Amino acid sequence: MKAYIKSIGASIPERRISNEEFARRVDTTDEWIVSHTGISFRHVVADGQATSDLAIAAANMALERAGLTSEDIDMILVATATPDFVGFPATACIVQDELRAPHTAAMDIVAGCTGFIYGLETARGYISSSFARNVLVIGAECLTRIMDWDDRDTCVLFGDGAGAAIVSAGSEESDRGILYSFIRSQGSGARLLERTAGGSRFPFEPDKMTVKELYLRMDGRKVYNFAVRVIVDSIKKILEKNSLDIEQIKYIVPHQANIRIVEAASKRSKIPMGKFYMNIDEYANTSAATIPIALNEMWEKKLLKEGDLIITVGFGAGLTYGGNLIRW
Ligand code: UT7
Repeated sequence: MKAYIKSIGASIPERRISNEEFARRVDTTDEWIVSHTGISFRHVVADGQATSDLAIAAANMALERAGLTSEDIDMILVATATPDFVGFPATACIVQDELRAPHTAAMDIVAGCTGFIYGLETARGYISSSFARNVLVIGAECLTRIMDWDDRDTCVLFGDGAGAAIVSAGSEESDRGILYSFIRSQGSGARLLERTAGGSRFPFEPDKMTVKELYLRMDGRKVYNFAVRVIVDSIKKILEKNSLDIEQIKYIVPHQANIRIVEAASKRSKIPMGKFYMNIDEYANTSAATIPIALNEMWEKKLLKEGDLIITVGFGAGLTYGGNLIRW
């Protein structure tokens, strides 16, 4: 059974923070942030909001556009690095309850910023096994809740948001579909991007640790180098395995972590920058949400036409990486 993206939706928090606001708080400048990352703004959740709130809003938009109700959903997958609760319950279960989806399986996907790419392939698998006909795949994050607002190395990079896709069973005759996915892990880099404390390896011990150890920490330069390499490799693998030329691809939708990563990948792969859809300027890095937010924006701008071939590509904590080949 083929699986295709039937609809897409997104939810962006209203509160918008400029680089200048960070420059008033930490030792940074708008010029440094823009020139080193391509980021000008990020959106931040309101007090009392959590990841599931953004996920539900994005899901409702995607359901409405698909002409479906929550009754039609067989499975909910929430890709997130910032669940409502640490470890359990799954944020997907909270989403299921709020959507009043009566007969769904629900689970979270922990694959860092590659989570939505993993989610699409997971949905495809459950649809092709006939377990599900409609899977709600969500990438949702509140990264501003786990970042150290006083650490200039990380605080300027992240934002909050969610995107959701309804992945449905399609007819074998239709060209539309998630045609192929390449997903991989390089666990040797696990410690390059982590929240150190609060898990079973380093339980949080208030008398021995500071609260900073609960925050996101990363070796930015090493992740950067990894990212450029795996973006180029993943695109190459997807094209080779499907006997495609880059000219046949309408857009590449990359994870939005740093525009310089994509520029370096563009230069190395000789794929023009114009092929890559970028919106990091407005939203910063929203981890598992960057790709569905970009897809939603592209759909709203009517950039995605039925029959277009697109590639998603990403990398993130784990370290994980990969991409999907999609015929829209
Ligand atoms: O989604 C996956 C998760 N994360 C990523 O993908 C991030 C991947 N990494 C990156 O995007 C980049 O490595 C960063 C944006 C994090 C850093 O950019 P960079 O060009 O690699 O800078 P750097 O780490 O080599 O640092 C250069 C300088 C340092 O100062 P010194 O040691 O040369 O004096 C930093 O302290 O820039 C300094 N710096 C800043 N200066 C002003 C770092 N952050 C800032 C800042 N404002 N916000």
